[in-house]
Amino acid sequence: MTIPTRTLGTNGPRVSALGLGCMGMSALYGDADRTESIATIHAALEAGVTLLDTGDFYAMGHNELLIGEALRTAPAARREQALTSVKFGALRGPDGGWFGYDGRPAAVKNFAAYSLQRLGVDHIDVYRIARVDADVPIEETVGAIAELVEQGYVRHIGLSEVGADTIRRAAATAPIADVQLEYALITRGIEDRILPVTRELGISVTAYGVLSRGLISGHFTTDRQLGASDFRAHSPRFQGENLQHNLTLVEQLRKLAEQKGVSVAQLAIAWVLSRGEDIVPLVGARTRERLTESLGALDVVLDAADLAAIEATVPADSAVGDRYPSAMMAHLDSEH
Ligand SMILES: NC(=O)c1ccc[n+]([C@@H]2O[C@H](COP(=O)([O-])OP(=O)(O)OC[C@H]3O[C@@H](n4cnc5c(N)ncnc54)[C@H](OP(=O)(O)O)[C@@H]3O)[C@@H](O)[C@H]2O)c1
Repeated sequence: MTIPTRTLGTNGPRVSALGLGCMGMSALYGDADRTESIATIHAALEAGVTLLDTGDFYAMGHNELLIGEALRTAPAARREQALTSVKFGALRGPDGGWFGYDGRPAAVKNFAAYSLQRLGVDHIDVYRIARVDADVPIEETVGAIAELVEQGYVRHIGLSEVGADTIRRAAATAPIADVQLEYALITRGIEDRILPVTRELGISVTAYGVLSRGLISGHFTTDRQLGASDFRAHSPRFQGENLQHNLTLVEQLRKLAEQKGVSVAQLAIAWVLSRGEDIVPLVGARTRERLTESLGALDVVLDAADLAAIEATVPADSAVGDRYPSAMMAHLDSEH
């Protein structure tokens, strides 16, 4: 299988058109199977996926160590094609609590030093702060990453969940390859004010939550038991009547998917892929089965009639419930 590629930004890396987001292999979506997680990363590399996304705070280094092990045990050619995209800056406690963000230049270099060690690599391909540190101008945080680029420890600079003004300020400081943003059929908030700016500045979007954390995957049901550490147990979109409503949208989407002979997840991922060459979806597959399903989206061709039918079935703003609990929404520069 040959996976198409897309370039991040004007000077960023050429990456597979679908990236693998590894977060759920360590945190936030309930128990994951370590052996299956590593097998999934290996299968992704084997299939031609090159972009692996992580965060140093995903189970406090666990996710980076997992990726490091997967890279170490992959055939050399596969290891060499892998590009790491790493988020840093979130401050967490031993009980898993979240204490804000640290984007001070000294902290940026400290975070990077630990990530390089855990991943077992000599450079990170794209490095970004997960959320803006309200006490540190973005120019200082991005400037510190730019120094890491000069020193060869980082190749490219990214951003995450930032709004139009922050994107402009960051891009005036150093070249930005991509902004990581939540973007899905039922999460279209970036279209009005953020996408026009990334496009004007030649910056790509790595889209996360393209299946809305499983909600629009076609596999999520109301009887799913969510542990206290599962993000979805606290996400407004997964609660009570909101969940019921949102799953009725999925059932309507399922009819369209069946007409096209594809799965709901494939239709949802293909829709994000259809938004433009500047968009690279990160899929959160945790098993080889889900990975295979996701990669199938690359073969789904959506014509104008398909797109119109999808948009009529799931119009923008048709989902109910915020995409994050309110305390976390407050940290989203992209929402202000
Ligand atoms: N920058 C940021 O702020 C930010 C925030 C969140 C995530 N991210 C990154 O983006 C990546 C993707 O985000 P996400 O994991 O929330 O995305 P997602 O793809 O919307 O959701 C992943 C979940 O969907 C379920 N799923 C069902 N069918 C699937 C299929 N065919 N393929 C993949 N998943 C399927 C899986 O749950 P089951 O395994 O239980 O079936 C999986 O845990 C993360 O891994 C992380 O690297 C970034």
